[in-house]
Amino acid sequence: MRFDNRVVVVTGAGNGVGRAHALAFASRGAKVIVNDLGGSASGKGSDTSAADNVVAEITALGGEAIANHDSVTEGEKVIKSALEAYGRIDVLVNNAGILRDTAFHKMTDENWKIIYDVHVMGAYSPTRAAWNLMREQEYGRIIFTTSASGIYGNFGQTNYSAAKLGIYGFAQSLAIEGRKKNIFVNTIAPMAVSRLTQNLMSESMSEMIRPELVSPLVLKLCHESSVENGGLYEAGAGWFAKLRWERAKGGRLGINQDISVDNLEEIWDQVVDFSQSEHPRSTAEAGKTPLRIS
Ligand SMILES: NC(=O)c1ccc[n+]([C@@H]2O[C@H](COP(=O)([O-])OP(=O)(O)OC[C@H]3O[C@@H](n4cnc5c(N)ncnc54)[C@H](O)[C@@H]3O)[C@@H](O)[C@H]2O)c1
Repeated sequence: MRFDNRVVVVTGAGNGVGRAHALAFASRGAKVIVNDLGGSASGKGSDTSAADNVVAEITALGGEAIANHDSVTEGEKVIKSALEAYGRIDVLVNNAGILRDTAFHKMTDENWKIIYDVHVMGAYSPTRAAWNLMREQEYGRIIFTTSASGIYGNFGQTNYSAAKLGIYGFAQSLAIEGRKKNIFVNTIAPMAVSRLTQNLMSESMSEMIRPELVSPLVLKLCHESSVENGGLYEAGAGWFAKLRWERAKGGRLGINQDISVDNLEEIWDQVVDFSQSEHPRSTAEAGKTPLRIS
């Protein structure tokens, strides 16, 4: 699978998972914009060497890349550097991220807001800047990076979970809007050792979940041959799986009976019973069962 003549922007590519994606794209012929602000894992400070080092790695291996040191919250500058260097953008991998973990009873407005800014605004801003270009050229592949913490919840990560699942909702609507223009949007939830996760991992586990083991999924979803759109995938340790919503068949009130909390209590077993579940894929499909449309 080659990416010759494709221009790929990877945000937060100075470390961890983003670095692995950038190296993987470059090794298959893509021209890569390595974006990274170079701050700490909690989003403090900045350092140009994070992006520069990855560009040096790529060029030493015979690949083509340039560095961009802007924050993802200033997406126009990130996309502009792709246009200035290579004249187009084909793939955008929204990956940059930080953590400000704290139990909710100790949450500050600052720690809530910065996580929203980097993850949600930092995915919105480059995507907005690239979107009309992709529409005009009728081609684009976009990846959003969510987290198991957003999908399943995690202690101490209310700010991060809210932002990460917000990104998924964003991606789902964007996938619908992009489809007709051959712009496909997918979301990944990686599991990899990085400076965000290294304190949680033993040495043997770290070896199992190297960041580069996530990148094949991103390359597959971003290739011109891919028809996947609006998907959510988990990946780590060489394991890849697609997720979907599951909804119980549910219970219905209203035929010869009041719709009240007492009657709801009587059918509660049906409301929470997944033995005859369905998997709605759109708001239209989701609306059929309550409205009795077959
Ligand atoms: N590592 C995991 O297991 C894991 C799990 C779930 C989700 N994620 C997500 O994967 C993504 C990559 O994380 P990672 O684990 O590789 O962490 P990492 O810290 O190694 O890499 C993140 C990179 O983003 C950069 N960055 C942060 N804020 C930025 C900004 N405002 N502008 C530009 N660059 C910025 C950092 O400098 C860093 O190089 C993040 O979105 C993270 O939330 C990671």
